Amino acid sequence: MQHFTAYLPDEDATAALGAALARTLAPGLVIYLHGDLGAGKTALTRALLHAAGHVGKVKSPTYTLSEPYQVMLAGRPVQVIHFDLYRMSSPEEFLDAGFREDFNQENICIVEWPEKGEPVLPPPDVNVFLRVSGRGREVELQPLSQLGLLCLDRLTFAPNL
Ligand SMILES: Nc1ncnc2c1ncn2[C@@H]1O[C@H](COP(=O)(O)OP(=O)(O)O)[C@@H](O)[C@H]1O
Ligand SMILES: [Mg+2]
Repeated sequence: MQHFTAYLPDEDATAALGAALARTLAPGLVIYLHGDLGAGKTALTRALLHAAGHVGKVKSPTYTLSEPYQVMLAGRPVQVIHFDLYRMSSPEEFLDAGFREDFNQENICIVEWPEKGEPVLPPPDVNVFLRVSGRGREVELQPLSQLGLLCLDRLTFAPNL
């Protein structure tokens, strides 16, 4: 799929998309989440992690900037790392924390506020845009690599049916 858009009328729809995305995950995938405060980036990530099998809380890593989770993917343990770069103060902070090494062939990285990570943040395989629209959210998914295309090809989600 080259491009995917949907209207998410309520938080349940966001959660359903998170669950649908969880089924498309592959090691090495990098997902950027774009959108203003309250757009639903953390809500989407939380649903994705729970659907991927994480039991327990998923908090916004606002102060720690990153939070790792371990999930099982096709019977293998995979680390999903949730970043929130809103409070990142400099590229050095990202590099000194060793975040660049987290972006490898094994891990899955989900990044809120990727704009704040420039220019040291590695590029994404999938861009997700969330926008407030009426009472719900508009969502747009854009593949940016072969891996991203494979991921979106596996996506099955039909919120409005
Ligand atoms: N599709 C939706 N329609 C309406 N409200 C939503 C939808 N998805 C999520 N929300 C709500 O919007 C807020 C999103 O918060 P959060 O996920 O923390 O945003 P962000 O991480 O983008 O700052 C939550 O209060 C959540 O309940
Ligand atoms: Mg957030």
